[in-house]
Amino acid sequence: MDEYLLVNGGHPLKGELMVSGSKNGGLYTIAAALLTPDPVVIHNIPEIADVSEMAAVCRSIGSHVEIDGNTLQIHTPSILSNSPPTDLVTALRASFLVMGPLLARTGEAICASPGGDVIGMRPLDVHLAGFRALGAEITQEESSWVAKAKSLKGNRIFLDYPSVLGTVNVMFAATLADGTTTIINAAAEPEVAMVAEMLNQMGANINGHGSSLINITGVKELHGVEFEVKPDRIETGTYLLAGVATRGDVSVINGQPNELDSLLSKLDEMGVKVEIFSSKGGIKVSAQNAFQGVALQAVPYPGFPTDLHAPMAATLTQAIGVSTIHERVFDNRTAYVSQLRQLGAKIIDGGQTVIIDGGVPLTGTTVRALDIRAGASVVIGGLAATGTTKILGIEHLDRGYAHLTKRLVDLGADVKRYKENITKD
Ligand code: EPU
Repeated sequence: MDEYLLVNGGHPLKGELMVSGSKNGGLYTIAAALLTPDPVVIHNIPEIADVSEMAAVCRSIGSHVEIDGNTLQIHTPSILSNSPPTDLVTALRASFLVMGPLLARTGEAICASPGGDVIGMRPLDVHLAGFRALGAEITQEESSWVAKAKSLKGNRIFLDYPSVLGTVNVMFAATLADGTTTIINAAAEPEVAMVAEMLNQMGANINGHGSSLINITGVKELHGVEFEVKPDRIETGTYLLAGVATRGDVSVINGQPNELDSLLSKLDEMGVKVEIFSSKGGIKVSAQNAFQGVALQAVPYPGFPTDLHAPMAATLTQAIGVSTIHERVFDNRTAYVSQLRQLGAKIIDGGQTVIIDGGVPLTGTTVRALDIRAGASVVIGGLAATGTTKILGIEHLDRGYAHLTKRLVDLGADVKRYKENITKD
């Protein structure tokens, strides 16, 4: 029998929490470690299923990986296989990040198309065009992509779309290429900047990261590093939004407000009180009073993050007036709408645009977490609803939210995790 969450809603969330290290950024740091034969130690790695899956992918190509709580040690003295098994690769999207390091270290990388959330077309053309521009020959054998290069040479590379993983993969390959690579229309997400910073600490020569133009001067080799993953801005946003939806007040002590301007300015526009409460970047939201609906677009950084689209939609079901969310990153990110409708939300899925008629009380029922962020949206919906919400499909939540049940309970929520009637978390 599947595990599920039972949420008895209607309790305002109150209190403070620390979020985990970045899910996506943490996965990039694990892949970055494949670029050196030296040991790498990564601190503040989140305790989530995707990290275990990424570790399995790395082990399959020759890495020794040990995870002890929030510390991950990885050592890849030599690459034993340049072709991770398809069943591991399809477990998560970030698995495709082995391509850049394998290509750079061995001259050949073979990898199936990766898995990940079903949130739209998720092509790989940006990754592959980048490898080609560095001198690799790309072919397809059965269902796998094969990249081969006698040597990689720096180049000027325009990305058709500022793909996050595409930028990281091309950056990985370019760190060990001959000469200088310039990536134009690069993803500017903080997690991309963070892994570039890690690579620099390993001896790479990268600048411009965090902007849409990244310069990489190749080096002969990279060395080991001890690196700390930054807090997860999406997890921060999710808990802040849960606080707002339940008309509570929630503080994220390690909230990194400089990475969340798009969310904080929208919350301000909604009439939610937002305070930055310490030099370390604490963010507090208070929503005792009614808040207003807004219009927003989910776009690449520094715009409103697509990963907060569904959690924000759940919160806006409780706003006064009509809200609209226009999704401009993925073409199938609105499946969560059907689940919020089950809870009684007045929300219409217009494909890329979602229209929410707010202020309608939600009532608990059985819903499903359809992907990580769709899962977060039904958790928020359940917390704001009266009565009991049963959430199925929580393996998706486990992929991205560490200690979710405990964190919510610590904030005053009535949430329990069940498996065949045995309470777990
Ligand atoms: N795209 C292309 N060509 C490519 C790659 C992507 O056209 O070669 C398009 C996609 O079709 C999509 C858009 O680019 O429309 C954005 O995709 P991107 O490549 O930027 O996304 P990603 O790198 O696959 C990462 C995160 C996602 C997050 C997006 C956008 C990881 C493992 N995943 O995916 O995170 O939504 O960036 O910020 O880092 C999540 O955490 O829940 C999640 C889905």
